[in-house]
Amino acid sequence: MRARKIIIDTDPGQDDAVAILLALASPEIEVLGLTAVAGNVPLELTARNARIVCELAGRRDVRVFAGCDAPLTRKLVTAEYVHGKTGLDGIALPDPTMPLADGHAVDFLIETLREEAPGTVTLCPIGPLTNIATAFRKAPDIVPRIAEIVMMGGAYFEVGNVTPAAEFNIYVDPEAADIVFKSGVPLVVMPLDVTHKALTTRARVEAFRGLGTAAGHAVASWTDFFERFDMAKYGSEGAPLHDPCTIAYLLDPDLFSGRHINVEIETDGRFTAGMTVADWWRVSGRAENAMFMGDVDADGFFALLTERIGRL
Ligand code: BDR
Ligand code: CA
Repeated sequence: MRARKIIIDTDPGQDDAVAILLALASPEIEVLGLTAVAGNVPLELTARNARIVCELAGRRDVRVFAGCDAPLTRKLVTAEYVHGKTGLDGIALPDPTMPLADGHAVDFLIETLREEAPGTVTLCPIGPLTNIATAFRKAPDIVPRIAEIVMMGGAYFEVGNVTPAAEFNIYVDPEAADIVFKSGVPLVVMPLDVTHKALTTRARVEAFRGLGTAAGHAVASWTDFFERFDMAKYGSEGAPLHDPCTIAYLLDPDLFSGRHINVEIETDGRFTAGMTVADWWRVSGRAENAMFMGDVDADGFFALLTERIGRL
């Protein structure tokens, strides 16, 4: 079987880091590159953190590109209150020694999609959609060449985590999200409705630690760190591992279920900017544009994740 070619667009973030490790540990996936974007922390840190994660996985060969340092039109909103000052708080890891790849992430996205055969590259955005939307604006010819976008973002029944209505990735750059959701590219969306079911219970964290490897130890330490925020906020047993849901979907789509529906991005709302208005009950008559997931087999997801992290 040919490995599936992907580009991960990311703002690490502990859960982004776990998603990257999952992809690098999986032979079914070929990571063409990582494109860093400003989000959980400023760009300088997300570009640094992405390289730390590659080095942790022993993959200095993966190309990491720095991308946009601010949303299309808004001021950057970050989330150090969840992820810590570095974005990867929880364990002290060495500064990366691998350099950033030459060039801008947006140009890498454009060039790669033009070079690779049409329909063979999947994008996995797990941060604000600024890099992707900028690439679409700059080079509209790449849009029909994308196989699929499998992304983490949005919420419907679970409503918002950063405002009462909006999930962080969409809230940070709603104008970019609007461009992506209107693009016509097949979209698979992992909203909070799913990721809030993928919780790191004590037993699941200890399973990572029990692997006895550097990667297992890092995953356990990261999740231990950011758990404290979600447990205090939601009273849940652990924290949601949002971003790895995208990569798990590529490996085993049957772990997830949802509906192919219309999803629009609110860009103007006084209280609702960044909301994903998901027509779950198909009442709007608007055309379907996204596979919006609603459920996950959490035990299956963690079994897959633990087994794969164990390979690193
Ligand atoms: C999303 O926001 C970030 O804090 C996480 O990395 C994830 O991508 C969850 O709302
Ligand atoms: Ca993220």
